[in-house]
Amino acid sequence: MVTAKYHIVLCIGSKLTGNTIGTCGTRGAAKLMSALNMALDDWDLASDAIVSGSTCFSVCEKGPVMVVHESGQEPVWYGGIDATAIDEIVERHLSGGEPVAEYRI
Ligand code: FES
Repeated sequence: MVTAKYHIVLCIGSKLTGNTIGTCGTRGAAKLMSALNMALDDWDLASDAIVSGSTCFSVCEKGPVMVVHESGQEPVWYGGIDATAIDEIVERHLSGGEPVAEYRI
């Protein structure tokens, strides 16, 4: 089993059935996956993080949503994220150790 300090799960859910589930995908979440991987590379954190995509966390109205899991810590939920938020979260939370309050949900 592969282990890492962080497991980051980014919702890339898309509306499939006409209901309200799946707004992260329609808000550009798939492109954020690339932004996240690039930010991890920029901060030399790629080997410290496993990145996964999810279909829906059922908080679609707060999307795009990303959850940072760290061993021994409560998960940190972020919402309304974009590429700028991703850069800040990687710099301040993953590199600096402090969750970024302005994007927490
Ligand atoms: S689609 Fe992302 S929380 Fe529902």
